[in-house]
Amino acid sequence: PDAVPGFPAPTQHSQQAYDPTDDFTAKWTRADARQIQAMSDPTAPPRANSMPEEYTMPTVPQDFPDMSNDQVWVWDSWTLTDETAAQPSFKGWEVVFSLVADRKLGFDDRHTYAKLGYFFRKANVAERPENGGWTYGGLVFPEGASGAIFEDQSFSHQTEWSGSTRIFDGNKLRIFYTAVAFYRNEDGSNRKPYDPRIVQSEGRLFADENGVWMTGFRDQHDMLQADGKYYQDGDQNEFFNFRDPFTFEDPAHPGKTYMVFEGNTAAVRGERVCTEEDMGYRPGDPYTETADEVMDNGAHYQLANVGLAVADNAALTEWTFLPPILSANCVNDQTERPQIYMKDGKYYLFTITHRGTYAAGVDGPEGVYGFVGDGIRSDFEPVNRGSGLALGSPSNLNYANGAPFAPDFNQNPGQFQAYSHYVMPGGLVQSFIDTIGTSDDFVRGGTLAPTVKVDINGADVTVDRTYGNNGLGEWADIPSGYAHDIDPTS
Ligand code: FRU
Ligand code: FRU
Repeated sequence: PDAVPGFPAPTQHSQQAYDPTDDFTAKWTRADARQIQAMSDPTAPPRANSMPEEYTMPTVPQDFPDMSNDQVWVWDSWTLTDETAAQPSFKGWEVVFSLVADRKLGFDDRHTYAKLGYFFRKANVAERPENGGWTYGGLVFPEGASGAIFEDQSFSHQTEWSGSTRIFDGNKLRIFYTAVAFYRNEDGSNRKPYDPRIVQSEGRLFADENGVWMTGFRDQHDMLQADGKYYQDGDQNEFFNFRDPFTFEDPAHPGKTYMVFEGNTAAVRGERVCTEEDMGYRPGDPYTETADEVMDNGAHYQLANVGLAVADNAALTEWTFLPPILSANCVNDQTERPQIYMKDGKYYLFTITHRGTYAAGVDGPEGVYGFVGDGIRSDFEPVNRGSGLALGSPSNLNYANGAPFAPDFNQNPGQFQAYSHYVMPGGLVQSFIDTIGTSDDFVRGGTLAPTVKVDINGADVTVDRTYGNNGLGEWADIPSGYAHDIDPTS
């Protein structure tokens, strides 16, 4: 892509594949991320969307139905996947895993009380209830199982964060997730840094005509802790990010299983580690900034990366870290829930991020971001005009961000409408509702948003407004429609 007048040109990325074990990390650069501001309309009035419609999730109305029938808050969600990331049903049932919390908690308190819950519904039903027709099945793990891995049992809170679920050999489930222990004082400060670990637990899935249930998950395999070498650890920064495993096989490397996850570049908090390569400007570009300039403004506190690991055994309980596949040094601090999505011979890395985690001097909406290349480790090209923005919530970058619990008066009411977008087969995208509205009138979410659809073509990802009702599909719709049914008894 070329430069927009008044803005720098994006970095040139070749999409070239490297071996998964190579020491090459693609950079989402400052020059790339500034393409987001370049496509925002500087004259968009209060509450208007300043971003291009084709990259914007349609507006979600405030009167949404609750998929849990008042039982739990629901946010990050995923389904059963096989090795190709297809989403099979099981004996005619669709199964969804979600982070859940007690509805008596404030929605913003959910993170330290999150547990893995599950829902099920019959596959291939033409007409469903408005809320998606799910039955809440309860928690997945036995009480106390996910906390048992921590040597230091003096935690103040112990919780289960995102991941993914693979189905093997008929009805064997392997859940990859993040077990987290917090060690907090009464005032909320850290007595010692929190401890997030990537864990796998195996169970069995069962179903009959009445529903779905699971057994097992007593043994928890503590697999990966941030190493401080490729992935920042708690000694380097008590606010580090390390979580959200997603596993898959790569047809280019048969017999291996890989995992992507959220991390940070391994540096001590405050260290001035950003380089001219992280800036990514083309020689002679009139709109460059130097690494020193942006670090003088504090941009080096934002050091997201996407990690890669490779499994060492068939049970997928032992893993080796490989260098990160993407970094966003001096660009953004969180690249969450990464996934690898294959289409037309290309590898898409999709990951979610927040407006509030951008570094000083760069900006962009809440949403899902995409990077395309020829392999799982590539010189990834950020999608959509070189920016990386794949599908954002409707936002106005001319006005303050606010927060989900305190939206800005002038902001687009949809700015926090949805988060944790996960791209499913066929370009369907599910997400959860966080907050809808402006400071004078807003409602909190805690259930899944309407599913939307994106068209993925080369380096272009655009929302399909002919899908559903002006682009909004059914609420909490996580269909198995693009995959097979697994029935171990037939
Ligand atoms: C990338 C890669 C390349 C190699 C090809 C072989 O995934 O390992 O380095 O050319 O795949 O399959
Ligand atoms: C995304 C996220 C994940 C994390 C979970 C914790 O919404 O921040 O990265 O696993 O929420 O609640």
